[in-house]
Amino acid sequence: MYSKEEQKKAAAWQAAMEVKDNMVLGLGTGSTVYYLIEKLSQRIRGGLNVHVTATSLETEALARRLDIPLISLADARTIHLAIDGVDSIDPDFYSIKGSGGALFREKIIAAKALRVIWIMDKSKLVHSLSGRVLPVEVPAFGVPYVEEQVKNAGFVPKLRVKDGNIFITDNGNPILDLTGGVDMDYPAAAARLKAMTGILETGLFEDICEKIIVGTENGTEEHFHN
Ligand code: 5RP
Repeated sequence: MYSKEEQKKAAAWQAAMEVKDNMVLGLGTGSTVYYLIEKLSQRIRGGLNVHVTATSLETEALARRLDIPLISLADARTIHLAIDGVDSIDPDFYSIKGSGGALFREKIIAAKALRVIWIMDKSKLVHSLSGRVLPVEVPAFGVPYVEEQVKNAGFVPKLRVKDGNIFITDNGNPILDLTGGVDMDYPAAAARLKAMTGILETGLFEDICEKIIVGTENGTEEHFHN
């Protein structure tokens, strides 16, 4: 029986095998991606030639420490593959990301990548996103205005705090974690939020990931987007 950490590692190691010579790889953020970075570093020491563009300063620092060749997004003409983690994903691949606060950079890199794969332990696979918090990134100046607007639209906003301080993303912005009703239509909500002045990006990802690799109690499973 694989533990949760073993499930993450199994999914990450399997995804590492999707990385081929001469690729530019978009590298996600989080505890599952951590195992991918370790494995990639091992493959690079064994002769694999790749360049990586990172979705967060944390991933960038880890890649640098493990001698993984980094390039900036500006220098990455093509991103052949992006591999990232996810917080919750439903059977139609509607997904929420951003509990680590990297949602904006993750979405940019996923949007640019030719292929996107997500890796996860089994707990991330859910029947429905219902009740899940939807994060949005908002520049600090806009927070009071956006809070008012989202409340008027029926959401309950909560300014994200970490270790007693307002959480600030790599882009220098706070995050508002939004709760809606149990029957919230996430794609409609995300579209409405995205249209609001002051909201930079939402944590809803749709139609962006082609395949997920899920660590289970017994090994791994792959699921494909319909
Ligand atoms: C960060 C993210 C992460 O990909 C997501 O939170 C999954 O992280 P973990 O693998 O640690 O569960 O979206 O913004």
